[in-house]
Amino acid sequence: MTETAYTGKDITVLEGLEPVRLRPGMYIGSTGSRGLHHLVYEVVDNAVDEALAGRNDFVEVRLHPDHSVTVVDHGAGIPVDVIEDQDLSALTVVLTKLHAGGKFGGDGYKVSGGLHGVGVSVVNALSEWLVAEVRRDGKVYRQEFARGNPVTGVDVTGTTDESDTGTTISFLPDAAVFEELDFSRDTLRQRLRETAFLTRGLRTTRAAARSRSRSSGTRSTRPTPSSRSRTTSTRSRAARTAPASTPR
Ligand SMILES: Nc1ncnc2c1ncn2[C@@H]1O[C@H](COP(=O)(O)OP(=O)(O)OP(=O)(O)O)[C@@H](O)[C@H]1O
Ligand SMILES: [Mg+2]
Repeated sequence: MTETAYTGKDITVLEGLEPVRLRPGMYIGSTGSRGLHHLVYEVVDNAVDEALAGRNDFVEVRLHPDHSVTVVDHGAGIPVDVIEDQDLSALTVVLTKLHAGGKFGGDGYKVSGGLHGVGVSVVNALSEWLVAEVRRDGKVYRQEFARGNPVTGVDVTGTTDESDTGTTISFLPDAAVFEELDFSRDTLRQRLRETAFLTRGLRTTRAAARSRSRSSGTRSTRPTPSSRSRTTSTRSRAARTAPASTPR
């Protein structure tokens, strides 16, 4: 055996979301097209879990021309209150910490597809930017991130009806991570259709491509969650019987 200088100093501990950026394949399978689409599935799956918890009747995926994506749901909204031992808003915690979530046995979810508390934080880590908007308690909360790091606090950006709740996640997959950034509408539509089929009470509607308010030059780099272009929707039976909630 040769003598070696291999000691404790050779051991690296990766902090925060670092491991995700270093080994993305471990979290999303690949950095090719499959991995790219997986990002959308993670965000959609959280909206489906909200539906399984009986709090959500609407999921919409919007693809934007700059390769960013917006996923809107009408669930309860990711909690925004401060988690005391973390001294951070729950929104910041679930988006910046691996293994943080409400699906480890608390009261939030009786059944869910989500398990590990890594989904949306992985999406955040692998996105050049991500904007999370939460509608809760009559307020609209917003936080922005760059490559997983918060670049704003959790700001209250507006008010809304008390009954208007949900989460809107917009993100631009990081070109430094992914080999390609082209989303396939057909692939996403197919996946949403399957999700709707497998999730009792959900159905898929295929809304026509729409574009609106394309005036702002900043939109191409960071769409506001309310901007939209191509749309694929999954709506539940509850949404069909409830007064029509217009996809926003
Ligand atoms: N759209 C949403 N609406 C409400 N809460 C959400 C939403 N998205 C995420 N959350 C909350 O954030 C937590 C973390 O989400 P994340 O996707 O990272 O992990 P998970 O869904 O718990 O597990 P998995 O790693 O299997 O996806 C969830 O457990 C849930 O409490
Ligand atoms: Mg999840």
